[in-house]
Amino acid sequence: ARSIRLAVIPGDYIGPEVTAEALKVLDACVSVDDIKIETTHYDLGAQRYLATGEVLPDSVLAELRGHDAILLGAVGGRPNDPNLPPGILERGLLLRLRFEFDHYINLRPARSFPGVPTPLAKDVPIDFVVVREGTEGLYLGNGGVVRRGTPQEIATEVSVNTAFGVERVVRDAFRRAQARRRKLTLVHKTNVLVNAGSLWSRTVDAVAEQFPDVAVDYLHVDAASMFLVTEPERFDVIVTDNLFGDIITDLAAAVTGGLGLAASGNINPDRTAPSMFEPVHGSAPDIAGQGKADPTAAILSAALLLDHVGASVAARKVEEAVVADLAARAGGPARTTSQIGDAIAARVAS
Ligand code: NAD
Ligand code: IPM
Ligand code: MN
Repeated sequence: ARSIRLAVIPGDYIGPEVTAEALKVLDACVSVDDIKIETTHYDLGAQRYLATGEVLPDSVLAELRGHDAILLGAVGGRPNDPNLPPGILERGLLLRLRFEFDHYINLRPARSFPGVPTPLAKDVPIDFVVVREGTEGLYLGNGGVVRRGTPQEIATEVSVNTAFGVERVVRDAFRRAQARRRKLTLVHKTNVLVNAGSLWSRTVDAVAEQFPDVAVDYLHVDAASMFLVTEPERFDVIVTDNLFGDIITDLAAAVTGGLGLAASGNINPDRTAPSMFEPVHGSAPDIAGQGKADPTAAILSAALLLDHVGASVAARKVEEAVVADLAARAGGPARTTSQIGDAIAARVAS
C-alpha cells in the first residue's frame, strides 16, 4: 500500500472536534483504497501561543514541509479576546503556511446536496467551484500605520497583484473550467479598482485565447454576490482575488447548505510544498465543546486531500458516503459531531 505522510493541525475550538471526525473517515479509507496513512499531530494554535508565545516556529515549518499533505481544522479565537489579538494566528499561522508553501490555488467547491435545505426560494442544483487566489492581494500584509492613536492616524492595506500571480491562478481556473462545464466567470471590481482590475481582465483575455472552448464572463463582485443568491446555477468556475474569494465563498457556503458543509483546499499545483486542506469555516467558539459542529466540511476537505495525493478511489467513496449521509439526515433527529463522523466512516467502510 502507498503511504501518505499527513501532518494534522487540529487548531482551536471546533477545529479539533471536526478534525477528529475527518481522521476517522480517513482511517476507514484504508480498507477501500490501496493506501496507508501516517499522521503526525502538531499542536499549533491558541493554546500553544498563550502558553509559549510561539505561533509557528521555523523548525515546525520545516517539519511540515516534509509531509505529503496537511489537514487543518481551524485556528483563531473569540472576537475581542484580550489575550489573543486578531491576526496573530490568522496571519502568523494560517496565512504564513499558505504563503510559505505557495498555496496559490485556494479551491472552494460549492454544491448543493439532495435532501439538504438551502435558504433559496428555488430548488435548483448548484455546482460550481471558486478558484480563489491564495498568495497575494490584500492578504499580503503590504501596508502600515502612521500616527497611530492620533486623530491623524493613517492605516493602509495595499492590494498586491502581480502579472505572474494573476496569470497562474487564471490559467489554473481555465483548466478546471475546461474539465467541467466550460464556463469561467471573472469576479472583480474593475469599475473602481482600475489598476488591479485591468491586470485581471487583460490576463483573462490573454489566457482565454488558449482556451477557445471556454466561455468567459465577467461580473463585478457586488453583482456576483446578488447572482450567488438569485441565480447560483449560472456559475461553473469563478476566478477571483484573495479577499473577494474569501467573502463570496462564505456566501456560496450559505446558499448551498451552510458553512458546516463547505470544503477547501489550499493547493500548490507545482507540488514544491505540501498542499493544505481545511474547511471554509473558522473555529466557531460560539458552538465549541457542545458536539454541535458539523464535521462534514472537514470530511469533504479530507476527500479533496485524497484526490490531491492520488487516492481517487477513496476520495469518491468519501464523497458518496457524505452524499448518502446528507440525504439520510433529512427530517431525522439532530446528531452530534461524532455521530455524524461515525455514520460517514461506516458508510465508507461498507
Ligand atoms: P466561523 O466560521 O468560525 O463561524 C461563523 C458561524 O458559523 C458561527 O455561528 C459558527 O457557529 C458557525 N459554524 C462554523 N462552522 C460550523 C460547523 N462546522 N458546524 C456548524 N456551525 C458552524 O467564523 P467567525 O466566527 O468569523 O470566526 C471565528 C474564528 O475563526 C476567528 O478567530 C477567525 O479568525 C477564525 N477563522 C479561522 C479560519 C481557519 O482557520 N481556516 C477560517 C475562518 C475564520
Ligand atoms: C478563510 C478564513 C481566513 C481567510 C482567515 C482566518 C485568515 O476566513 O480561510 O476563509 O480570510 O482566508
Ligand atoms: Mn473566510
